[in-house]
Amino acid sequence: MNVFVTGGAGYIGSHTCLELLLNGWNVTVFDNFSNSCSQSLDRVEKITNRKISLIEGDVRNTHDLTLAIKSSAADAVIHFAGLKSVGESNAFPVRYYDNNVTGTISLLKAMVANELKKLVFSSSATVYGTPEKLPIPEVAPTSTTNPYGQSKLMVEKILSDVAKSDDNWKIANLRYFNPAGADESGLIGENPKDIPNNIMPYISQVAVGKLRELSVFGGDYDTHDGTGVRDYIHVSDLAKGHLSALKYISNNEAADFCSFNLGTGKGVSVLELVKAFEKASGKSIPFDIVARRQGDVAACYADPTKANKVLGWKAELDIERICQDAWRWQVNNPTGY
Ligand code: NAD
Ligand code: WQD
Repeated sequence: MNVFVTGGAGYIGSHTCLELLLNGWNVTVFDNFSNSCSQSLDRVEKITNRKISLIEGDVRNTHDLTLAIKSSAADAVIHFAGLKSVGESNAFPVRYYDNNVTGTISLLKAMVANELKKLVFSSSATVYGTPEKLPIPEVAPTSTTNPYGQSKLMVEKILSDVAKSDDNWKIANLRYFNPAGADESGLIGENPKDIPNNIMPYISQVAVGKLRELSVFGGDYDTHDGTGVRDYIHVSDLAKGHLSALKYISNNEAADFCSFNLGTGKGVSVLELVKAFEKASGKSIPFDIVARRQGDVAACYADPTKANKVLGWKAELDIERICQDAWRWQVNNPTGY
C-alpha cells in the first residue's frame, strides 16, 4: 500500500513516516520545508533501512500536487502540511488561512483529479476552545479564539461537507491533544526554528542550558496545583494512531467523515511536567511563575474512548517516558538536525 504524506518532514509527520515504513507502507512525502528540513527523513530512512520518495513542493500549488500524487500511486493521503503557531496566526492571519485552508482545498482538488478519496487530517484539540466539561468527548461544542484554531475548524467543516457530498470519501479527522517526546532512537524529534512556544521543547532547552529558565504561565488556575493542565501524548503513540485511522478508512465502508480524539485521557500540570522532566534528565529546571498567557485554558484533556473502541488504538506511553525520549533527542542533537 502507498501513502502520500503532506508535511511529512515535520515533527509529527517524520514520526508517522517512521511508523508507516516499519509497517510495510510505501511513503511519498510532499513538503515545502517551510518549517522542517530533509534531514529528518534521512534519519527515518536510517532507522528503518527503507527509502522514502521525497517531493519538494507547496500544497497550494494544485498542479504540482496533482502530478506528485499521481506519481506516488497513493491509496491514501495523510495531510500534516500547515502552519501551527497560535501567536503567529494572530499576527499573520492571512498566511494561516492561506496555508491551512487554501492548502487543504488545493489538496482536495488534487485528490479528486487522481480519483483518490481516502484522507487522514491533522486537526487539534484547539477546536474545543474553552471546554465546558472534562474529559472532552468528540461531541463537545467547538469554538476558537485565534486564526490557527479557526483554520482547523474551517477545514473540519469543509471536509465534513465534502464527505457528505460523495459516499466514496473516507475521512478520518484526528484531533491531537499535546504531542510531545521523540522516537526512542534519539535520532528524530521536535526541531523548533526559533524560541519554542510549546512547553516541552522549551523545558528541554532550559535543561540543556540553551534557555535560562521556564516562565510558568499562571499559578492561579482552578487546577490542583494552580498551573495549566494538558494531555501530553507521546508522538510515537500519535503516529500509531494514524496507522489505525488509515486501516479504519480503508476497511470500513461507513467511515465517511469521522472525528477522533488522540490523547491519553490524563491531565498533567505544568509543575508535574517540570518534575517529570527533572527526573528524566537529572537536571534542575529553574522556573518562575508569571502572569497567565492570553488565550490559555485552565485544563484540557481528552476522552479517548471513541478512538479506543472504534480505531482499536490507545496511547501506551506515560509522561515519564515522554520526558525520557524528549531528553534523549535534545542531548543527542543540541542544535537540532
Ligand atoms: P511541523 O511544522 O513540524 O510540520 C508541518 C510540516 O508541513 C513541515 O514540514 C512544513 O515544512 C510543512 N508545510 C507547511 N506548510 C506547507 C505547505 N504550504 N506546503 C507543503 N508543506 C508545508 O508541525 P507538526 O507539529 O508536525 O504538525 C503537523 C500538523 O499537525 C499540522 O497541521 C499541525 O497544525 C497539526 N497539529 C500539531 C500539533 C502540535 O502541537 N505539534 C497539535 C495539533 C495539531
Ligand atoms: C502547555 C501548557 C501553558 C509554555 C498549543 C496549541 C494547540 C496545539 C498544541 C497545535 C499551558 C504552559 C507553555 C511556556 C508555560 N497545537 N506553558 N510556559 O497551549 O496547550 O497548545 O500546542 O494544534 O493548538 O494552542 O500548548 O505547550 O504551549 O502549553 O507555562 O513557556 O504549558 O500555559 O498550560 P497548548 P503549550
